[in-house]
Amino acid sequence: MKLQSVSLLLSTLSIALSAPSPYRPKPKLVNKYPGLDVLAKRAGLLYFGTAIDNVVLNNSQYISIAHNKSEFGQVTPSNGQKWMYIEPQQGKFNYSMGDAITKPGREAGQMGRCHTFIWHNQLPEWLTAKNWTKPELVKVLENHIRHEARHYYDSCYAWDVVNEAFNDDGTLRETMWLNTIGKSYIELAFKFARKYTSPRTRLYYNDYGIERVNNKSIAVAEMVKYFLKRGVPIDGVGLQAHFTTGRSPSYNETSASIAQYNKLGVEVALTELDVRQALPDSHEQQQAQAKIYADSVKACVDAKDCVGVTVWDFWDPVSWVPETFPGYGDACLWSANFTKKPAYYAISDMLREYS
Ligand SMILES: *[C@@H]1O[C@H](CO)[C@@H](O)[C@H](O)[C@H]1NC(C)=O
Ligand SMILES: *[C@@H]1O[C@H](CO)[C@@H](O)[C@H](O)[C@H]1NC(C)=O
Ligand SMILES: *[C@@H]1O[C@H](CO)[C@@H](O)[C@H](O)[C@H]1NC(C)=O
Ligand SMILES: *[C@@H]1O[C@H](CO)[C@@H](O)[C@H](O)[C@H]1NC(C)=O
Ligand SMILES: *[C@@H]1O[C@H](CO)[C@@H](O)[C@H](O)[C@H]1NC(C)=O
Ligand SMILES: *[C@@H]1O[C@H](CO)[C@@H](O)[C@H](O)[C@H]1NC(C)=O
Ligand SMILES: *[C@@H]1O[C@H](CO)[C@@H](O)[C@H](O)[C@H]1NC(C)=O
Repeated sequence: MKLQSVSLLLSTLSIALSAPSPYRPKPKLVNKYPGLDVLAKRAGLLYFGTAIDNVVLNNSQYISIAHNKSEFGQVTPSNGQKWMYIEPQQGKFNYSMGDAITKPGREAGQMGRCHTFIWHNQLPEWLTAKNWTKPELVKVLENHIRHEARHYYDSCYAWDVVNEAFNDDGTLRETMWLNTIGKSYIELAFKFARKYTSPRTRLYYNDYGIERVNNKSIAVAEMVKYFLKRGVPIDGVGLQAHFTTGRSPSYNETSASIAQYNKLGVEVALTELDVRQALPDSHEQQQAQAKIYADSVKACVDAKDCVGVTVWDFWDPVSWVPETFPGYGDACLWSANFTKKPAYYAISDMLREYS
């Protein structure tokens, strides 16, 4: 070896030893704010998720957050799997709105919560305009569940089989289902769901106003107990958790309601969490909202068997709140300009205490 090349070798070697090498692992940067799903999993939940509505699928900034698996490990179509869109004509099924959310979710590795087989709203005209006999309507129900369950066979960690069947006083809501089939429509729906969904899919009853121990949540617990006793398949109760700043249940109240279902042996999820503000919004209200969000998620994390939390959309401009509750808004974790609100950081900070 020539002297020249030895010195070249040595100088190359010393550069290699002193200069930062692209091949040497860099010290790992600690990300102070990993996404909410990452933190929720570390805290023991199965997922932190969001509902996604079809109206925003043209907004790339929205989509990049909605299908960012670090933030959301689970997605729910807000509307796309409801009866009026899935079976707009009797026996003619159209899955395009549901698929527009479940397919990208699966590609991103996000779990699915599917929503919903039976509700009294957003039904197609052909279904509501006719006076069905009981056997006819049972057939219509089974056919609907059979088709939709099979189409989404591998897409649903859970199905909201029946949505909002109770009144606040704990009596059953008067709907075409109750009026035509009788109260057995609920257990029929669960039996059909068990028959046609994947055996891995968890079957949920989902409702609002059951996040405290009250007449309604007790009536739901009685139904669950009655189902379990008689072998009607039910795996979970979804607490929607649509809250209002100033009137929301406390951590203790939500914990107590979750416990009344866990005690029976079924799991729980917070399925539609949002916290609406009286407008105009203020700094004080945002702080209060942040505490409600964090306390609600904490009640789930601390429970014996609360599997996850889903927010009912994460972006204010597409929230259902302003249209449904005039004078209210700003219910989500991200504001219109896509900045994260104090509520986002409150959840994140709370979850980081568990990791
Ligand atoms: C996904 O979200 C995480 C947590 O907020 C963030 O660090 C990451 O940059 C996001 N990824 C993309 C592709 O935007
Ligand atoms: C998306 O579509 C809606 C109407 O369907 C429209 O108002 C909105 O401006 C569109 N957004 C983008 C980013 O194209
Ligand atoms: C299915 O629904 C989508 C979305 O509403 C609509 O654009 C499409 O035309 C429908 N397809 C059929 C065959 O009706
Ligand atoms: C359904 O029944 C009600 C009450 O019996 C009756 O008033 C109505 O006209 C019926 N509707 C149809 C579409 O037959
Ligand atoms: C709850 O139910 C009890 C009877 O079981 C009734 O006395 C009470 O008025 C109900 N409360 C509400 C708020 O509906
Ligand atoms: C919540 O419940 C715990 C334990 O049951 C109790 O010690 C605490 O005082 C309660 N907090 C409030 C604000 O009621
Ligand atoms: C985004 O909107 C929020 C709430 O309206 C506001 O406080 C914030 O300053 C805005 N941020 C940017 C970067 O525009």
